[in-house]
Amino acid sequence: MKNIKAIIFDAYGTLFDVNSAAEKCKHKIGDKWEGFANYWRTTQLEYTWLRSLMNRHKDFWQVTEDSLDKSMKVFDINPSMKNELLNLYKVLSPFNEVPEVLKTLKEKNYKLSILSNGTPTLLNELIESNNLNDIFDGVFSIEEVGVYKPSSKVYDMPIKKYKIQKEQVVFLSANTWDVSGGGNYGYNSIWVNRNNNVFDKLDFKPNNEIKNLKQLLDIV
Ligand code: LAC
Repeated sequence: MKNIKAIIFDAYGTLFDVNSAAEKCKHKIGDKWEGFANYWRTTQLEYTWLRSLMNRHKDFWQVTEDSLDKSMKVFDINPSMKNELLNLYKVLSPFNEVPEVLKTLKEKNYKLSILSNGTPTLLNELIESNNLNDIFDGVFSIEEVGVYKPSSKVYDMPIKKYKIQKEQVVFLSANTWDVSGGGNYGYNSIWVNRNNNVFDKLDFKPNNEIKNLKQLLDIV
């Protein structure tokens, strides 16, 4: 990859572990915590796509709460846990290697950004609670365009703001559909495949596949 001007990261699932909120409560939820966490995440994403298609936008925090309500009913989780889970979702943990790799990239003078469904408030809280304050040049939230990924309006934001070409962007996501969205838009897209998943069949193959962000250091 040559002439890269910006490295752009997806947030939820790529830098920050979306399952970490439910995992921190596994002593209360029991063995079903992981099925519940996956269901919550899938429902949350479905709601983003459905709302975009229905033209009925609600921000990511409201969608996260709505999908939690449904998931708690489906998995028969005690309603008293709702606030605890939501508060933990605001301070999700990063994946292990993330802080170190981001610091190394920053030292190499790359322009680093986040492009996410999250609201600006949510994203800033995640950055601050994980001590990543000085890392990012830009934090792009879909709230600016009012439609969720994978709308091309979302992937357009950094191109317009930085006045660069799509080919000058490296975009990383662990979410296969987001890699497909960014790739189909024209970014150099890298799939962070931590769990040995199968890629989508959406007319796009990622330029690279890595197991974790450390492997990015061998590519850029
Ligand atoms: C985000 C979702 C896709 O951060 O995880 O945009």
